[in-house]
Amino acid sequence: MGEETYGPRTPAWSALSKYATVFSQRTIASLFQEDADRAEAFSTEAEGVWLDLSRQRLDSSALELLLELAKQTEVAVWIKRMFDGEHINNTEDRAALHVALRRPADCPLTVDGEDVMRLVKAERAKMQQLADALHEGELKGYTGHPITDIVNIGIGGSDLGLVMAVEALSDYRKPGLGVHFVSNLDGVQVSRVLEKVSPETTLFVVCSKSFTTLETLTNAQVVREWLLVCGGEQAVATQFVAVSTDHAAMDAFGIAPKRRLALWDWVGGRYSLCSPVGLSLALAVGWEHFEALLRGAHAMDCHFEQAPSENNLPVLLALTGVWNRNFLGMPSHAVLPYDHHLCRLPAYLQQLEMESNGKRVQRDGAPVECETCPVIWGEPGSNAQHSFYQLLHQGTAKVSVDFLLPVNSGVGRQEQQDLAAANCLAQSWALASGDPAESDNDSHQACSGNHPSSLILFERLDPDTLGKLIALYEHKVFIQSVIWGINAFDQWGVQLGKRLATGVGGIISDENVAGPPPLEEALVRFRKWRA
Ligand code: F6P
Repeated sequence: MGEETYGPRTPAWSALSKYATVFSQRTIASLFQEDADRAEAFSTEAEGVWLDLSRQRLDSSALELLLELAKQTEVAVWIKRMFDGEHINNTEDRAALHVALRRPADCPLTVDGEDVMRLVKAERAKMQQLADALHEGELKGYTGHPITDIVNIGIGGSDLGLVMAVEALSDYRKPGLGVHFVSNLDGVQVSRVLEKVSPETTLFVVCSKSFTTLETLTNAQVVREWLLVCGGEQAVATQFVAVSTDHAAMDAFGIAPKRRLALWDWVGGRYSLCSPVGLSLALAVGWEHFEALLRGAHAMDCHFEQAPSENNLPVLLALTGVWNRNFLGMPSHAVLPYDHHLCRLPAYLQQLEMESNGKRVQRDGAPVECETCPVIWGEPGSNAQHSFYQLLHQGTAKVSVDFLLPVNSGVGRQEQQDLAAANCLAQSWALASGDPAESDNDSHQACSGNHPSSLILFERLDPDTLGKLIALYEHKVFIQSVIWGINAFDQWGVQLGKRLATGVGGIISDENVAGPPPLEEALVRFRKWRA
């Protein structure tokens, strides 16, 4: 990438900076007054997902400049590079080819001389086989009893997407099947799960791209020892399956060869839900629904690959984010889904966005010349209204918002979903318009408004739509990384803490070894209080 295509160095960026200074006097309310067609002009629909940007602090001139920025940063070229399997993850010299994971198996895709679709097809077949066998009662434990529970052991990208999707599709779950997640290191989750499940009828899915992650290996080891006590090596060989790029490590752990699913280095952890990492989801909802999710994601991929920027949902969502972050100076972004099924979406997006774009160097290692990823957070509405919306309406922090809203209830309670929808729409209106009448009377009650939000509306939250939403956000993140000139697919920043933890772990309870100065006193106190 040359300097001329680096976002902050483009003419469009300078024009946007200038325009933002002038524009800062305008309010969302005034934009509506000035343009009777605003609601229509600022909304786009594709693949059954409707994106309404009319309550953003954005006018058509700003949008045109943002589209020009997309052109000058060669967004279309980067999209092609991704779909062609080029090594766009430059620091790890890898492709970032999550789009292959949901591509029809009969459309070959050659990367580094290999048809990756052949690999994808083979693993999909294994996943389907396991899912079908489980649901037909043919998947048995070491004493011959059918499996009744599954436990996913993984963390980060090997957990968050699964937790989010299993919750989102809870109404599609196979009845009678318990689905559990163990991710955290401290032993609380694994203890609780082992209290609940039976060793004879529980399938443990060890999910780790690297098979080196401390949390996952620690929890898997705890389960392994529990199984050994309960049923010996036979239990270990029967009750475990694993997903990883590292076959030797799975082997060393004792995962039976036919219980291993492959993963590839061209799939980033946080982009891996549609890969064999999705096994626990496929087991939870059945192959047919998992396939529907793949189809939905693929449909959004095709839209992303083909639609011009001005109608391209991921590109528009990304550009709006860039406008808010870089030109309106908003460091914080809340994701607020009005459907409790999506209660874990904010947590999933935190990793997707912040681990991808929480970077301060460009692809070539030079410092960035602009702000990058905002802080991402959120909770489902309307719970969140009774928690932190006070700050959104009257606080001093600048926060932009994504509202997500399915029109139809997923649980047959349309009247309640109508109430949720009314609240969602009213909140986006209140954030945009505020209440000037109140402000004349009592400053405590005044809501200044002018807080930007997007609305993502869809008919219903089914597997197909969830796949589309996942792909929408994945591609939004990629486009922002292109504009910011960073690599969205590495995560070097997580290494330092891991490295230091290994050292601290070696001395945590050893009173003869003083801790490093920044931790010295904390370690003295920890050891004193350690039971
Ligand atoms: O520590 C961060 C991270 O590397 C994430 O990027 C990843 O999703 C997670 O750990 C788990 O990694 P793995 O799947 O290799 O166990």
